Amino acid sequence: MPASMSPGTIRNPDGWWRGASIYQVYLRSFADGNGDGTGDLAGLRARLPYLSKLGVDAIWLNPWYPSPMADGGYDVADYRNIEPVFGTLAEAEKLIEEAHELGIRTIVDVVPNHGSDQMVWFQEALEAGPGSEARERFWFRPGNGDGPPNGWKSIFGGPAWTQVPDGEWYLHLFAPEQPDFNWNNPAVREEFLDVLRFWFDRGVDGIRIDSAAVLVKDLDSVEESYTDHDGVHEIYREWRRIADEYGNRVLIGEVWLPDQERFALYLRQDEMHTAFNFAFLASPWEPDALRDVIDMTLATHVPISAPATWVLSNHDVTRPATRFGRADTSFDHADRKHGMPSDFELGTRRARAAALLAMALPGSVYVYQGEELGLWEVEDIPDDLREDPIWARSGHTDPGRDGCRVPLPWSGGEPAFGFSTGTPWLPQPAGWSTMTVEAQLDDPGSMLSLYRAALGIRRERLGDGVMTWLPLGDGVLAFTRESGLICVVNLGSQPVRLPPHESILLTSGPLDGDLLPTDTTAWLSS
Ligand code: NOJ
Repeated sequence: MPASMSPGTIRNPDGWWRGASIYQVYLRSFADGNGDGTGDLAGLRARLPYLSKLGVDAIWLNPWYPSPMADGGYDVADYRNIEPVFGTLAEAEKLIEEAHELGIRTIVDVVPNHGSDQMVWFQEALEAGPGSEARERFWFRPGNGDGPPNGWKSIFGGPAWTQVPDGEWYLHLFAPEQPDFNWNNPAVREEFLDVLRFWFDRGVDGIRIDSAAVLVKDLDSVEESYTDHDGVHEIYREWRRIADEYGNRVLIGEVWLPDQERFALYLRQDEMHTAFNFAFLASPWEPDALRDVIDMTLATHVPISAPATWVLSNHDVTRPATRFGRADTSFDHADRKHGMPSDFELGTRRARAAALLAMALPGSVYVYQGEELGLWEVEDIPDDLREDPIWARSGHTDPGRDGCRVPLPWSGGEPAFGFSTGTPWLPQPAGWSTMTVEAQLDDPGSMLSLYRAALGIRRERLGDGVMTWLPLGDGVLAFTRESGLICVVNLGSQPVRLPPHESILLTSGPLDGDLLPTDTTAWLSS
């Protein structure tokens, strides 16, 4: 811990992000305004009132930049513009403004580890040839004999190197269309500082930093050596200086690191403000595992006064209603358990209980679009329509992440369910007729009604702060919050008696008299 930071000192005590509810918009699949089957800014702008009524404080948009879409937009061809299929820069500016008028802040996704093979820089590098300055912005190397410079593997499967016609190879930790930047090069550093300024100047309130821990590499290592090198912190310290110049802007890291001490380094006073809590997301639906992960999270965050984050899903992971209905409820990127039978009713009951748990914990919470509708993972997308590069790169053994990216159902009884007047880019299941926003809006028992009620209560009396465990026995997670709210989650096999309380604020499912059934959460007022 740096000397300047004493434990327990709240940094930015009023920072809006500390207790925020943040809604993740996967733009391609949110709402289509022009009928071409892909979601866009016009569609999102038209649905801002929906998000306002849902009760969220901010939206995080996945990359919206010009992109060949080799990895759903995480292959960015121009960091200072908008993908024409999504709209224009002027529309993006309008969106930021209109969202602000509704009290909603905007967070954009910046992808610093890699660009697109179609970006000007990479095209210049190809043209300029070996030894050129243009190649120094990426990782170009001669091969080792006939093969690549080293044996590193891509995170999406296959080799991490691709050869270009003049014989050199370039590094890509992800797909070949996503060449990695060389962060040893000051030109790369300058470029991204300017990109941050570009978006802060346009009024964005935060930056989600993609693959934040893998920017610095040691190519001389035989084993993959790119995760969490110390050199990465210097980069985020520079970013933080820019964010602080603007004030009230937040840096949110996508940092997948099991080692909590190393994770905490990213949240030092002069680095990022928050980072996603993937340990919570990956936890099985089991009381001891969840309790451990909550304790571990708070033990990591409280001493450094960084707010914890609570995440149940995003565009890379299996939908909770499916995940929690399986015999194995944990999440693991390496084994997505595609096709493992899932009891949707059970999964939904648990997803409801999990939502109230996540929203009651101290810190900020993320809601991935469609989570508030209780959508299931779509596992029967026809193979020829699959777009996730993981599908091809795994030799068609891992279907990848398309199943959680299917366009939202808004209204009506059949696809496209009000998402588009055209054909959605991924097909929606006919069974989603009961899952539409329209079908759920006035149904007090729906997932949408639960999220709206919970987000409303959260705004009034939850957010960042402290929690205290209540010992209610094995299988029960119970804690109080300083506002007097008690959260009780029953993960055991028997109904449990509720602790003394004044009133019941919200439950994720019906009570059995004054007993809380299995896989149910109650919010009580003490
Ligand atoms: C993490 C993003 O969430 C994921 O969707 C993407 O494929 C990789 N980073 C590479 O950018």
